[in-house]
Amino acid sequence: MKPLHEPVYVTVAFRQPGETEVSDRGFDLKYSREENPTVRVLERELSALEGGSDALAFNSGMGAISCLYFSQLSSGDEVLLPMEAYGTTIQLAEELHKFGIRVRLAYPSAESLVEAITPGTSLVLLETMTNPTLKVIDVPEVVKRAREVGARVVVDNTFLPLVFHPLKAGADAVIHSLTKYIAGHNDVLGGAIVLGSLDASSIWHWRRRLGSIIQPVEAWLVVRGMKTLEVRFERQSRSSLAIAEFLSEHPKVSEVHYPGLRDDPHHETARRLFERSLYGGVVSFEHADGKAGAVSFLRSLRRIFPSPSLGGVESIASYPAISAAKTMPVERRKLLGITDGLIRLSVGLEDVDELIEDVDKALGGDGT
Ligand SMILES: Cc1ncc(COP(=O)(O)O)c(C=O)c1O
Repeated sequence: MKPLHEPVYVTVAFRQPGETEVSDRGFDLKYSREENPTVRVLERELSALEGGSDALAFNSGMGAISCLYFSQLSSGDEVLLPMEAYGTTIQLAEELHKFGIRVRLAYPSAESLVEAITPGTSLVLLETMTNPTLKVIDVPEVVKRAREVGARVVVDNTFLPLVFHPLKAGADAVIHSLTKYIAGHNDVLGGAIVLGSLDASSIWHWRRRLGSIIQPVEAWLVVRGMKTLEVRFERQSRSSLAIAEFLSEHPKVSEVHYPGLRDDPHHETARRLFERSLYGGVVSFEHADGKAGAVSFLRSLRRIFPSPSLGGVESIASYPAISAAKTMPVERRKLLGITDGLIRLSVGLEDVDELIEDVDKALGGDGT
């Protein structure tokens, strides 16, 4: 029997001793907190996607990031993050002071990160594109400086699968929240570390100790989602550009952030770094009427779902002031340009004209 799809191994345990199989990583296949064949299928797909030497899958993006911290950092080490990294990534790093690990934050640009890297820096964890203001970080520049001081660079590439390959740019590993584009259906949580030069075995042992491996059915759902990643991401990126262009001309919009727009300050960097002339499925914009306008916009949407999260087949509008930037100090928000009128759209697969109509109506019309 040779099935078209690999079976899903919904089992906690495997026979031992007896016909114990050894996984391709060389460990006994005995307990699903350590290894599971369905998870292994996902890991091979992730490794191929990012051009890695191996990959480990986790029960969420934060599961992957915690395991990265625990496996890579020791007392006395310093981790450097852009100050617009995902809030929970920063909060968890800040908790590591309990274990003698220092955290420093820098403005999210290659220049500021390069300046902030010192001989004491052990790990730089950055995101290819920041959230919610969509600043594109010139990863190769950061890698070059990190190499000089022997710091490792890990890139969270959640926003830009397929079009950016951090390992090619010299990063030591890639993080993904699989929850977003890779699974792509707003119905499953997952995370991954794809390995370049980092040691798989240490991360494997830490995942086993932390108990943060992805479950087999969830792994299978992610594998299924990955089969359509390319067509989804392409359409989401093209629709996003159309929506960003529409918003740029709208009288109720004072600013649009989208690196695919020719006049976006990050366009040149994005054009140089991203493949396929695609710039991702997230667009942020500022409502000209500030907080009142943003709240009214979110309440008036009919087709786009107001909620946090991104990367799925359904379009979602989120309000960073109460989601992504909720815990961010006011001064930092100001510096980054995260205003009370800022809205983030994650563009799904719906008809783009219907999405534009929904956005226009929620803005009160006049955009055509
Ligand atoms: C860039 C980025 N990294 C990591 C995460 C955490 O992923 P998860 O929600 O799957 O734990 C998120 C979540 O929004 C994210 O946006």
